Amino acid sequence: MNFPSLFSPLDAGPCHLKHRVVMAPLTRMRAARPSLAPRPLNAQYYTQRATPGGLLIAEASPVVASGFGNPGVPGIWSEAQVAGWRAVVDAVHARGGFIFLQLWHVGRVSHSSFQPGGALPVAPSAVAISTDFKAMTSDGKVAAYETPRALETAEIAGIIENFRTAARNAMDAGFDGVEIHGANGYLLEQFLQSRSNRRTDRYGGGIENRARLLLEVTQAAIDVWGANRVGVRLSPYGIANDSGEADPMPLYTHVVERLNPLGLAYLHVIEPRSSGAGRAEVNWQNVPSAMMLFRPIWKGVLIAAGGFTGEAANEAIAAGHADAVAFGRIFIANPDLPRRLQRGWPLNPYNRATFYGGEEAGYTDYPFYDEMAPA
Ligand code: FNR
Repeated sequence: MNFPSLFSPLDAGPCHLKHRVVMAPLTRMRAARPSLAPRPLNAQYYTQRATPGGLLIAEASPVVASGFGNPGVPGIWSEAQVAGWRAVVDAVHARGGFIFLQLWHVGRVSHSSFQPGGALPVAPSAVAISTDFKAMTSDGKVAAYETPRALETAEIAGIIENFRTAARNAMDAGFDGVEIHGANGYLLEQFLQSRSNRRTDRYGGGIENRARLLLEVTQAAIDVWGANRVGVRLSPYGIANDSGEADPMPLYTHVVERLNPLGLAYLHVIEPRSSGAGRAEVNWQNVPSAMMLFRPIWKGVLIAAGGFTGEAANEAIAAGHADAVAFGRIFIANPDLPRRLQRGWPLNPYNRATFYGGEEAGYTDYPFYDEMAPA
């Protein structure tokens, strides 16, 4: 019997992937300012990483101005942003690649300096993030996290509409689908987890209520795209941005069981061993494996991410623990990552100092292993 590998084809919804080396969504904070529209440099970065039949998940993009919390991240709420993304998508498609957009609302991870009118960021409840990390502010400094304003029940329909409009905008930009960002301590995860959700209405309290917003947002994206072009990203055991459910299995089992019948393109889970990979090196040992826990529950295509080497990814796929693997940090540093993994070529090391913000350095200037070899 032949076991599948990173280089076996895979169907994710209507996308016929020729390999399973997925680019993870990666915030790089290099959009045009003040429009927050993707610019030619961003198109170049994605094009470098596009391969025929390969899937890129474009960086988390706020669905609305109030869902924004990091300088220079591209949005998906304005015409200029849609036009900027269209150029990115067209360039990726010209290389034969697929590209999904990750839809984002940061909730309490924002700061009033980013908010229209200087308002407080919104969240399920007026509970501030409490970690050693500080909030980013619009002038690039850091400050203590503020206590967010709890959304009124009547406002929640508006948040769902923000995601629906953004899903439509992503379609106008030509993307192949969208991924709902339900991970890493941002708004949808803030609703999921009891640590940040103290509500007493139908969006808080028991598991079913806490899962409601994620499911309604997912449905809004499905209304626009059809289920097989919508993915959902979860980090059940993550701790990013002061997240973390004391007992994640009942909550996330409920979520996954509710997602199962929808017919999504994929479910994307983050391994907790690299939680916080965005801000610091974290390599937990002896933590639960999200893919191992959820593979038996999830009936569709499963993408795993978090701390994978090519070898570990091939093992996970051969063992059936995941169908595809998304790579973050090593895809930043290796524009030709699929080919390097396929051929066993050495990898460029990544430079954490250039992850967030800046221009070409650490973005489009990582060398290809062999620039002259045919693609
Ligand atoms: C991230 N990560 C991330 N996750 C996400 O869902 N949306 C995002 O926009 C980002 N942005 C981001 C930026 C940077 C610079 C890093 C390093 C990480 C998390 C990322 O998708 C992935 O889950 C982790 O990096 C773990 O995978 P690797 O890096 O171990 O392959």
